[in-house]
Amino acid sequence: MASKNEKIGIIGSGLIGRSWAMLFASVGYQVTIYDIVQEQITNALKDIRQQLNTLQSNGLLRGSVDADGQFKAIKGSTSLEDTVKGAKFVQECIPEKLDWKIKLYTDLDKILDDKTILSSSTSTFRPSLFSEKMKHRDQVIVSHPVNPPYYVPLVEIVPSPWTRPEIAVATRAIMTEIGQAPVLLSREVDGFALNRIQYAILNEAWRMVADGILDVKDMDLVMSEGLGMRYAFLGAFETAHLNAEGMKKYCETYKNSIYNVSMTMGAVPKFEGEVAEKISNQLNAITSIDQLPARRAWRDDALTKLSILKKELDSKWKDSQ
Ligand SMILES: NC(=O)c1ccc[n+]([C@@H]2O[C@H](COP(=O)([O-])OP(=O)(O)OC[C@H]3O[C@@H](n4cnc5c(N)ncnc54)[C@H](O)[C@@H]3O)[C@@H](O)[C@H]2O)c1
Ligand SMILES: *[C@@H]1O[C@H](CO)[C@@H](O)[C@H](O)[C@H]1NC(C)=O
Repeated sequence: MASKNEKIGIIGSGLIGRSWAMLFASVGYQVTIYDIVQEQITNALKDIRQQLNTLQSNGLLRGSVDADGQFKAIKGSTSLEDTVKGAKFVQECIPEKLDWKIKLYTDLDKILDDKTILSSSTSTFRPSLFSEKMKHRDQVIVSHPVNPPYYVPLVEIVPSPWTRPEIAVATRAIMTEIGQAPVLLSREVDGFALNRIQYAILNEAWRMVADGILDVKDMDLVMSEGLGMRYAFLGAFETAHLNAEGMKKYCETYKNSIYNVSMTMGAVPKFEGEVAEKISNQLNAITSIDQLPARRAWRDDALTKLSILKKELDSKWKDSQ
């Protein structure tokens, strides 16, 4: 893909800012990365250069421009104004601290024009929390990525009550354009969608270990060797649809068991005390704190391979239809 001559601003050059920069550059956008720490920008550019080269030599580079070309489309800046001016889309990636975000959005409000979409990577804050007082608040939205975004394509798009509908539609289109898989929430809710599901699973896993029904290792096998196998390819709904002669039949057949079982689920755990100690000790015995970096690298490698397999299998299915 040829260069677009359209500008994207990235604010915050940490783990997530770097990934976004690479994703936007992969389809030809001109990307400017800003940070308040000059050294972070230098490190980010060095790291991006290296990541692009590694991706290219492993045949995993996205887009049709080579690593050199993509790197050339990314530059650093120490001026917030230069980063934002004339940008089609700005993705904010500063640390998850509400007072920091509010301060930044107040500054951005003064330099933003009416056209630029201002999107936050926040994992936990509803967009209304940091945009409420802004003059440009109807241009602000959340685009929450999943780590590592280069291999896990989901992006949760979350509008505030005052986000203009066309901003949500345009954000979704940009996410699709850069090869991510956006989902659009109709309104903001705590935890968005991904963490609400993640916490529902974590809560029940916790209760089963707390009740002494399974230990941590076996509980995790229920996901990694069971449900997770399907969930890597199908959502909860389509899984159910396939598990009977369609969803209608599934509901008729299983509604009473699902309801009865669900009614036996206990209170929301507090994630503290004796059970927290017990679960943490069992996990440390499975993967010690020292082993965490190696285990994370293993996870990322596994996700890379899975993302390749998923693409292959998805296109096989599409071709067969
Ligand atoms: N790390 C993840 O797994 C993950 C996943 C999804 C979403 N997020 C969200 O992405 C955002 C960034 O997370 P991260 O892991 O990349 O953090 P990080 O700590 O790796 O990077 C943050 C960067 O922001 C810079 N910074 C701080 N204040 C700034 C300011 N006012 N203006 C410009 N730059 C500033 C820091 O110098 C640093 O380089 C957070 O909101 C986080 O919740 C993170
Ligand atoms: C669900 O519970 C009700 C009430 O206790 C009981 O009558 C019914 O048989 C149960 N159904 C299933 C499928 O477990």
